[in-house]
Amino acid sequence: MTPSHDFHHLLLEDRDGVRVVTINRPDKLNALNFAVIAELDAAFRAIAADPAVRAVVLRGAGEKAFVAGADIGELATLSPIQARHFSQHGQKMMRGVELLGKPVIAMIRGYALGGGLELAMSCHLRIAADNAKVGQPEINLGVLPGFGGTQRLLRLAGRGATLELCLTGAPINAQRAFELGIVTRIVPAEQLEAATFALAAQLAASAPQALRGILDAVQIGGECGIDAGLDYETQAFAVCASTHDMREGTQAFLERRKPVFGGD
Ligand code: COA
Repeated sequence: MTPSHDFHHLLLEDRDGVRVVTINRPDKLNALNFAVIAELDAAFRAIAADPAVRAVVLRGAGEKAFVAGADIGELATLSPIQARHFSQHGQKMMRGVELLGKPVIAMIRGYALGGGLELAMSCHLRIAADNAKVGQPEINLGVLPGFGGTQRLLRLAGRGATLELCLTGAPINAQRAFELGIVTRIVPAEQLEAATFALAAQLAASAPQALRGILDAVQIGGECGIDAGLDYETQAFAVCASTHDMREGTQAFLERRKPVFGGD
């Protein structure tokens, strides 16, 4: 059962182990206000606690945007103390997405700007329609990215591209974002949904403990030194050896059949 009724700005739907989270403010291009961020935080906590959810698709409602950024109307009224709280609120929610332990795919149609790109970068995979536009335009508002953009873009695309995008605020198209490693796949707009859900279904059918090991090992390796990353990889590898899924995966290979990963 999905607790959609608890949310005003999100639509939640379950499709065979995939939870689809749709930010539903299309009239404001799905801009992130305080309430949307709080709901995303709650939705991802529920996903973390639910073993039936094995992969997530995060998307925005409507044809025009994934998310066009933090809500500028709200931003305009913030005191410094409120701005600090808003930044921490968004950062905490996005850190929760990043550390979820289950793969999250950002499905990017149209604009992923500012907080929208920051949110997409906290996801593990980003599939963009060929008409997508991404950027960090905060500089045009006299401010800087506040939900982790300077840090995650740096890690994804390097210092040069990060400074180019953040200092100029100019958006880039899907092809350029792909070349820079900011999006992981591009597909024609009309195939975006099918490609995203095919990938999500593949992930949801994979062994969850192995997926988690990969996500955590890459995260730790990216944030700590190689020795910490290698050590974690070993521990995660050993944990997999305790699962039925690893027995099933190896046995299915030897028996020349398709594995069925039950998640235990
Ligand atoms: N916050 C609040 N509202 C936003 C928004 C945001 N980040 N982005 C778009 N909207 C609203 C617009 O105000 C407009 O609302 P209205 O119809 O009530 O006036 C509605 O969404 C549609 O946007 P509009 O600007 O009319 O669409 P467009 O196709 O002309 O332009 C964009 C699309 C994305 C280029 C433009 O909306 C834009 O630049 N948005 C802000 C992007 C940004 O700076 N993000 C970083 C914020 S920190």
